[in-house]
Amino acid sequence: MSKGGPFSRNNNRLHMDGCDLSVIAETYGTPTYVYSRNDIVHRYERLDAALGSLDHALHYAVKANSNLSILRLFADLGAGFDIVSAGELERVLIAGGDPKSVLFSGVGKRREEIAFALKVGIGCFNVESGAELDRLADQAALLQRPAPVSIRVNPNVDAATHPYISTGLKDNKFGVPQEQALALYERARDHAYLDVIGIDCHIGSQIAESGPLLDALQNLLALVDRLAEVGIELSHLDLGGGLGVRYHNETEFDVESYGAALRRALTGRKLKLLLEPGRFLVATGGVLLTRLQYLKPSDTLDGKSFAVVDAAMNDLIRPALYQAHHDIEIVAATAAGAEEQAPRRWDIVGPVCESGDFLAQNRTLALHGGELLAVHGAGAYGMVQASNYNSRGRAAEVLVEGDSHRRIRRRETLRDQIEHEIDDLERPVDSPADAPTHTASIASAATAQERRA
Ligand code: LLP
Repeated sequence: MSKGGPFSRNNNRLHMDGCDLSVIAETYGTPTYVYSRNDIVHRYERLDAALGSLDHALHYAVKANSNLSILRLFADLGAGFDIVSAGELERVLIAGGDPKSVLFSGVGKRREEIAFALKVGIGCFNVESGAELDRLADQAALLQRPAPVSIRVNPNVDAATHPYISTGLKDNKFGVPQEQALALYERARDHAYLDVIGIDCHIGSQIAESGPLLDALQNLLALVDRLAEVGIELSHLDLGGGLGVRYHNETEFDVESYGAALRRALTGRKLKLLLEPGRFLVATGGVLLTRLQYLKPSDTLDGKSFAVVDAAMNDLIRPALYQAHHDIEIVAATAAGAEEQAPRRWDIVGPVCESGDFLAQNRTLALHGGELLAVHGAGAYGMVQASNYNSRGRAAEVLVEGDSHRRIRRRETLRDQIEHEIDDLERPVDSPADAPTHTASIASAATAQERRA
């Protein structure tokens, strides 16, 4: 059984488009993230088509997967971008994205991030508070560059998703309460270096149905009308991202009916619709490949059986952080002749020293040892949330393009990890109290040796 979309089984091996995933694992090692170019393009085109002739633009939410090759793919598709840091902006520019197509969201924009974004001429600042509006106005005046502004309104609607990724309730830190928005718009209008152009919201992520998004839209439209009454005309409305995907047995978000509802609600208005989808575009076309290391079957009926793999919570934190379900599939059975093992329920766990380090729990799989596993739905919020916890290097990333594949990020080495610490170790020691520790000396000796080699 495989998941459809870019996946199929051929010779009993799981394929992504025209590529055998076991060959990819042999070529690049494990753990490795693999993404399907075709799936991303297909989903982008599907969402775009759902909006039809409505004046609209899709701004890919970079945070979902910020690999440069993925960003370049979106730039080639003509997408805009939604960013939340100067780092994401740099990535977009390096990947060839047009700064004018960039929306800058986030509650904590630093002064220097604002200055950088003003200098490169981004499309819009999605302002989240009065204090941020003042800071933006100061910077814009200082640089004498007018700042295009939208105010992120918190529409106080329940996106009915996991509390950590729900953002549109009044108790969430995001956006400006609807009641305060009008006054803020008036303040912005009166500032010489602020150019009020839009209104935005983003109520949460992994939203199953369009209902809450359409409720948010109505709240925003009421505000748009109110603003028009006081002479503030907006040119765009940005409804954020949030479209959910099918990780397991969820109903698929109905993009076509969402598109139709948006068209109905906006036809006849002189407002361009912007969306900021992340997960919907990249989640389903990605897998994390991981190799089984050890089996620890329980010897009692009600005990837990563990399958220890070489990927861990540092590679994919979603199960530990949001109790997220990712389907897991055996890519290829182990070598012919391996003794058949009856399926049993396994917790698929990593090598990290935490009981929260699991990729999946209670999965019925026929495992013998050494199998290659594909963790599905890993294209969004996977690699971007990876860390070096337990001094584990981050995974490689591979892009499948039809029947070819190429590495788009090399596996991290220990050298990559310790690079930022070595400079400090190599500083001349002024006093014995500052002397490097034993381990530090070893590290610095090893580096010196590496350098000589
Ligand atoms: N726009 C803004 C302002 C956002 O904050 C987000 C996501 C998006 C767009 C894109 O949302 P999407 O279309 O991907 O749902 N790490 C979590 C998800 C965090 C989402 C944060 N904001 C996870 O792994 O589920």
